[in-house]
Amino acid sequence: MRSPSIGAVEDSYSAHFHLSRLGRQPDGALPIEGLRMSQAYHHQAVMVSEVVELFRPVPPGLVVDATVGGGGHAEALLAAYPHLRLLGLDQDDEAVAAATARLAAFGPRAVVRKDRFDRLPGLATGRGGPAGPAARHARQSGPAGPHGWEGIPLVGALFDLGVSSQQLDRPERGFSYRFDAPLDMRMDRSRSTTAADIVNGWTEEHLAALLAAHGEGWFARRLAGAIVGARPVLTTRQLAEVVERSIPARARRRGHPATRVFQALRIAVNSELEVLGPTLAATVAALVPGGRCVVLSYHSGEDRLVKEVLGRAATGGCTCPPGLPCVCGARPWARLLTRGARLPTAEEVARNPRASAARLRAAERLDAPAANGGEP
Ligand SMILES: C[S@@+](CC[C@H](N)C(=O)[O-])C[C@H]1O[C@@H](n2cnc3c(N)ncnc32)[C@H](O)[C@@H]1O
Repeated sequence: MRSPSIGAVEDSYSAHFHLSRLGRQPDGALPIEGLRMSQAYHHQAVMVSEVVELFRPVPPGLVVDATVGGGGHAEALLAAYPHLRLLGLDQDDEAVAAATARLAAFGPRAVVRKDRFDRLPGLATGRGGPAGPAARHARQSGPAGPHGWEGIPLVGALFDLGVSSQQLDRPERGFSYRFDAPLDMRMDRSRSTTAADIVNGWTEEHLAALLAAHGEGWFARRLAGAIVGARPVLTTRQLAEVVERSIPARARRRGHPATRVFQALRIAVNSELEVLGPTLAATVAALVPGGRCVVLSYHSGEDRLVKEVLGRAATGGCTCPPGLPCVCGARPWARLLTRGARLPTAEEVARNPRASAARLRAAERLDAPAANGGEP
């Protein structure tokens, strides 16, 4: 599906679908509902000028915004660099609708599509993706392919990980303990497993392992036991109360004690970390030389993974002891563009407190085969 005036979206859950179902206004303006949706979508993009600067040197081609959200970063990139095209992905229908409306002004330079980002390397290069004759045709048809991006060199990828303010602040999405709502937390509401399924269906051991993995330390067991004892736990408020009863006030860290529990559940519901490492590695490998990958992460588990993957690309998987010359023959296929992780400025955090956890890392693809031959 393609429409120059509202960008192009593929997928029956897409904004285009919703917008075209609602019908155009007689004067050709966007449908009222579509406008209302995009204006109502609220998320302040983080470290925008740093992200835009990092993409300045990339050659003409395609940038994939793997987590397009409301389209804040995407809009800034398209406005700054007329030689770039952009494919925006998001697994959330509301984000797809909002980004589609926001990027409409860029016409065919911007395509927004509902998809999970683990399909990025295949989608962006025309390799992989769905099987079947239509997909094979799409992969073979080069720059003029039916999607409009096949064959265009992949010069950039942006991952702005985690959850949007829109998702957090919509009570009915069940992401936040600040509102009472069913425990949902699915970014893609066509998926079947909700947070309530995990809270009420996982074994105590499994729950404890999830909570331990995402920072609850020795409270993980106690919390898992309390959750199992309180079943059924169906709402955000109920869960927040169980957490409050289980963690003594003196042992609480910064912020509300439920923060990490909700984060751990969100990560599990949306399989956030399972696909991140392999996707990032394959994306860096799929970039053309000089292409850049920029990642914003918001908690330590994510940032650790990003650091590992980009670090491996920058050392070529070298196995020699640190500090000694490399004799193992490793050849880096990327160079790091950030020393450690970059943080938002104090001014940005004052303006947008949700930026405070952001960690930005970036790498540039070198002209060398990736360890796996560059084939994601
Ligand atoms: C922090 S927001 C991105 C905000 C965006 N950069 C902007 O400027 O508005 C993260 C977005 O990533 C999406 N997301 C998270 N994991 C995803 C995945 N595996 N595949 C696709 N989208 C994902 C979420 O639905 C959310 O809309």
